[in-house]
Amino acid sequence: VYPLLFRNPLPIPPQKQPKMVVTNPVTGKEIWYYELEIKPFSQQIYPTLRPAQLVGYDGIAPGPTFIVPVGTETVVRILNSAKDETSVHLHGSPSRAPFDGWAEDVTFPGEYKDYYFPNYQSARFLWYHDHAMHKTAENAYLGQAGAYILHDDKEDALGLPSGYGKYDIPLVLTSRVYNADGTVKTTVGEDDSLWGDVIHVNGQPWPFLNVEPRKYRFRLLDAAVSRAWNLYFARTSSPDAKIQFQVIGSDAGLLEAPVPTREMYIANGERYEIVVDFSGMAGQTVDLRHIPQSGDIAVDDEYEHTDKVMRFVVSSTPVVDPSVVPSSLRTVPFPPDKLEQTVDHHFRFHRSNGQWLINGIGFADVENRILANVPRGTVEIWELENSSDGWSHPIHVHLVDFKVLSRTGGRTALRNTVQPYEAAGLKDVVWLGRGETVRVEAHYLPWTGVYMFHCHNLIHEDQDMMAAFDVKAVAG
Ligand code: C2O
Ligand code: CU
Repeated sequence: VYPLLFRNPLPIPPQKQPKMVVTNPVTGKEIWYYELEIKPFSQQIYPTLRPAQLVGYDGIAPGPTFIVPVGTETVVRILNSAKDETSVHLHGSPSRAPFDGWAEDVTFPGEYKDYYFPNYQSARFLWYHDHAMHKTAENAYLGQAGAYILHDDKEDALGLPSGYGKYDIPLVLTSRVYNADGTVKTTVGEDDSLWGDVIHVNGQPWPFLNVEPRKYRFRLLDAAVSRAWNLYFARTSSPDAKIQFQVIGSDAGLLEAPVPTREMYIANGERYEIVVDFSGMAGQTVDLRHIPQSGDIAVDDEYEHTDKVMRFVVSSTPVVDPSVVPSSLRTVPFPPDKLEQTVDHHFRFHRSNGQWLINGIGFADVENRILANVPRGTVEIWELENSSDGWSHPIHVHLVDFKVLSRTGGRTALRNTVQPYEAAGLKDVVWLGRGETVRVEAHYLPWTGVYMFHCHNLIHEDQDMMAAFDVKAVAG
C-alpha cells in the first residue's frame, strides 16, 4: 500500500505557548512554565482504511515545538494520560540528573512530573522524547518526540533564513510499518531493529512542501527507531544530479562555518541544520532522497520507496530573499586541548549471547552499570569501539557536548573518516559504523550526578545497550 507519495502537505508542529511566566527570585530572570499532556490520538494515514492509533505529546506527533531564548529557564509539567509509563528526556540539554529522563524514573499513567530545564547552553536544536525503561522504542515510535529550539540574539542577528514554520522549518524523520487495514503495526522490539517501510516527515508519509525560489533553513532530526539516513536533494527531473546545500549546524548548535556538501549522513538522535537555496529552481520540483543500504539494512531487504523522503514544489513566482549564509557562523566552544591525547575510557559496543552490551554490561545489571567515574571539570577522551560485526550504533552521551576526534577501522569507505560537517561543530550523538572505533572528547561540566550513555537505535537501547557514568565532585 503506497498511495501516499507526495500527496499530503508537510505538517508544521505548532509552537508551544507557556502557560505562565514567573520571575526567578534568585536570578531575577524569567521562568517560562508549560503544561504538556501525553495522550492517545488517532490519525488517518490511509484515507480509505482504519486510522492509526498513536500516542503523542498534546495528542500530536511530533509534539508541539518549544521555542525558548537562551538563558530563560523552563519548567514543563508533563501529565501522563497514556496507558504506559513514560520518562521524558530533553536531548541536548545539560539537565540536572533528576530531570534528565533517567529510564527508571518513570511517571505512571495518571501522574505528572515537573521537569526543570536550565537552557544556559548555546543556541541549538534539541528534541524531547520518551526514555522509559524498555518502552522507549515503542513510545517514541507511536509518537512521543518533539522539537525544542533554543535561540539567542547573536544567532538571530546573522540573517539566516528565519521565521518558524515559514523559512525555518523542522524536518523530523521517522519510519513506521502499517497493517493491511491501515492501523499502525505496534509489535516493536521483537526484532533486532525496526527499519519501517513508510517514511514520514513530521508525522506525514512522504509529504510535499510548497516553497518559494529562495533560501530555507531546515532543522533535520532523525527520530526514527532504527533507521539512519544518507540524504541528498535532486530535481525530480534529474534524480542523479545531487544539489549542493550548506550544513550550518549540528547537535550543539551552529558550526564554525558553513560546510557545503551534496550528501549527508544522519543517524538516530542526530540533528543537522542545513540551508537549501531553491532560487535557481523556480517552477520545478526537488526531492529529498535517501541512498538506501548506507545503514545496516541489507540491499535485498530494503523496501520499495525508502529512497524517497519528501518533495519540495518550488513556485515560479520570483521573490526577494533578504536572508544570507555568513561565511563565519560562530566560535564553537570546543573543549580545551588535553595535555596528553590519551584515552580515559574505552567502551566496546558488542553483542554476546543474544544481548546488546557495553563492555559486557547491560543497563539491567544495576550493580555494575556505572562504567565510568568522571571528576567534574575534567576533559576526557572516550574511545567507542564497535565490535558487533554487522551492526552500527549511534552513540549518545547525556549531559555533555563532544568533539569527534577520529574515526578508524570502518568497513564502508564513506564512513571511515570524520565528515567535515561532523568536525565543524560539537555533537552529542556519534554514529559508530560497522567495525569503527571513534574517539570523542568532552568537558564534563557543570553538574555532578549519574547520567546515561547508550545506543540510540531504540531497539538496542531497550535491549539494554545502555550504561551510566558518574560525574563526581572533586575534593578541595
Ligand atoms: Cu535521545 Cu538518552 O536519548
Ligand atoms: Cu545499537
